[in-house]
Amino acid sequence: MTDSNGHSSIVADFWNKRGETYGRSWRSVAKRRLSNWELDLVKQAFNNKKKAIKTLDIGIGTGRVSDEIIRHQVTHYATDISRTMIDYCRNKYKNNKRVKLLKVHDILKPLPKNWDKFDLVTAYRVLSYYPQLTTILKNIRCSMNDGGILIFTYPNIDSMVAVPKLINNKGWLGNEIHYNDLVKIVRDAGFSECRIVGCSRLLDTFYDWSDNRLAADVLFASEKILKLIFGPTRFVRLFYVICKK
Ligand SMILES: C[S@@+](CC[C@H](N)C(=O)[O-])C[C@H]1O[C@@H](n2cnc3c(N)ncnc32)[C@H](O)[C@@H]1O
Repeated sequence: MTDSNGHSSIVADFWNKRGETYGRSWRSVAKRRLSNWELDLVKQAFNNKKKAIKTLDIGIGTGRVSDEIIRHQVTHYATDISRTMIDYCRNKYKNNKRVKLLKVHDILKPLPKNWDKFDLVTAYRVLSYYPQLTTILKNIRCSMNDGGILIFTYPNIDSMVAVPKLINNKGWLGNEIHYNDLVKIVRDAGFSECRIVGCSRLLDTFYDWSDNRLAADVLFASEKILKLIFGPTRFVRLFYVICKK
């Protein structure tokens, strides 16, 4: 399981080792609040949807996003490059009738043609490993119904997370992007009505440490002040992109 530069196999190894412990990293009070904010974007995609829709969660991990999706009327597919994550989720959802297929798949490759076409696709905290964003978005678009919604995240180069990379060209295992470049890539991949939002500017470690209500309140109040000063997306760590086929 490799792409042209062998990158995705390294990512797969990392997540195979990490396995279900990833879910535990979302347990602190502040992380749970951040997660709720992220999942609200998914909830909004179900507004005014009366019939069951086809959904796909790319990079399911331990099912944080899929848990929200399958609360609604859906036929749900999910993929992950990590066999460990897929095995974990197969066990977790084995009695859930809304979950149709969980499959090991590398999103650098097109989605299988014999799968359903999707009305909602999510890819939270997955695509940042890969610089091939245009190709990935085009591949995803081919598997979507007209009017379908894609929600994905990608890191902002103008944020604290990107500082080490800006200084010595060595950062974490990821890619970052400028707001305007992101808008262009989304459009070039054929999506419209692109809306980009952000939430947190402060480091993840603060969210991990803020494990009581007071600490989380202080953290979110600080984020609110930063938002008032800098506006909705400037210096946020992650861009959340919501766009339409
Ligand atoms: C940070 S976790 C995010 C999990 C989940 N989306 C969430 O937000 O809670 C990243 C997940 O993406 C998966 N992943 C990484 N590269 C992938 C690829 N090329 N194709 C599919 N899944 C991938 C990893 O195995 C891991 O489970």
